[in-house]
Amino acid sequence: MMKQTILLPGGAGFIGSHIAAELLTLGRDVVIADDLSNARADVIDRLERITGRRPVFYQIDVADHAALDRVFASHPVDAVIHLAGYKAVGESVLKPVAYYRNNLDSTLTLLEVMADYGVKKLVFSSSATVYGPANPIPYTEQMPTGGCTSPYGWTKHMIEQILADACVADPALSTVCLRYFNPVGAHESGLIGELPNGIPNNLMPYIAQTAAGIRSELTVFGDDYPTPDGTGVRDYIHVVDLAKGHVAAIDYAAAHTGWEAINLGTGRGTSVLELVHTFVSVNGVSVPYRIGPRRSGDLPAYYADAEKARRLLGWQAEKSAADMCRDAWRWQQNAREL
Ligand code: UD1
Repeated sequence: MMKQTILLPGGAGFIGSHIAAELLTLGRDVVIADDLSNARADVIDRLERITGRRPVFYQIDVADHAALDRVFASHPVDAVIHLAGYKAVGESVLKPVAYYRNNLDSTLTLLEVMADYGVKKLVFSSSATVYGPANPIPYTEQMPTGGCTSPYGWTKHMIEQILADACVADPALSTVCLRYFNPVGAHESGLIGELPNGIPNNLMPYIAQTAAGIRSELTVFGDDYPTPDGTGVRDYIHVVDLAKGHVAAIDYAAAHTGWEAINLGTGRGTSVLELVHTFVSVNGVSVPYRIGPRRSGDLPAYYADAEKARRLLGWQAEKSAADMCRDAWRWQQNAREL
């Protein structure tokens, strides 16, 4: 494999840092551009500790055209994995304009500068939320998208459309939209992981913080859904599996042109209570919980059809829910010191 330089806008965050670790381990060069609005600078040192190689780092806003131009002028970028964006679903309902401005601007600037430098390969961090509430499960990529339940979800949907249009206009372009299901867990080293701002919205960090005694109890949002145990069902995927899916997508993009959307999930559903019980038994901790009302906007159950990723990328998730819970707990214990 030729020496390759991959640019990761938003690469210092939870998912980006795990992708950087995979790429560096494989001997690819990594350039991270991140404004650190939801990440910490020391992730760069940690990546060096994990892989023995240091990514190049620029603290810039990816929507800043001049700053991004300087990055492309300084490095022979072969491909981009675009992870720069705001991602808190609830916050996006309160601050829609900020979400549209930030997530769309960063993407448009990136496409402009990529065009200036003749960079044709882009992998985009999309979400299963683009399937909206109306599709049957499991979700397959050819299902209609839209009907999103939050401005965050709409930004993902709009960016997918922008990339599809850009591919029509430039037949040499290759864009792969990866639709993530529920990424959880952390790197086995315990050195990188998710750092939620304040009270976590998402289930796994909330479970981990409850086990650590930071939260007194978990509220299970509803136990009267039409699911086997009445609690919500999701397709949790280990973030290291997810990162490996990005490497496979970069290799796919290198060999193809045009637009693709590909699910990254395990193809299996896990309920809230199953995840809690797995966390408790794997880690030997207690996670007090009580059943509360449903959270507005939540769907009863969804999971991926993971066949397209297997067929196109030769990738499938390998880690179990037990792996996810063990690694999330290891990271939680280390993160207390941060
Ligand atoms: C949400 C977003 C998704 C986003 C993902 C990660 C929607 C429709 N989905 O997924 O786009 O990519 O977050 O940011 O907006 N739960 C509890 N108690 C808690 C927290 C969660 O019972 O304290 C339950 C939820 O009801 C749900 C499951 O756990 O059944 C997973 O919730 P969460 O981790 O927040 O992810 P999603 O809502 O599936």
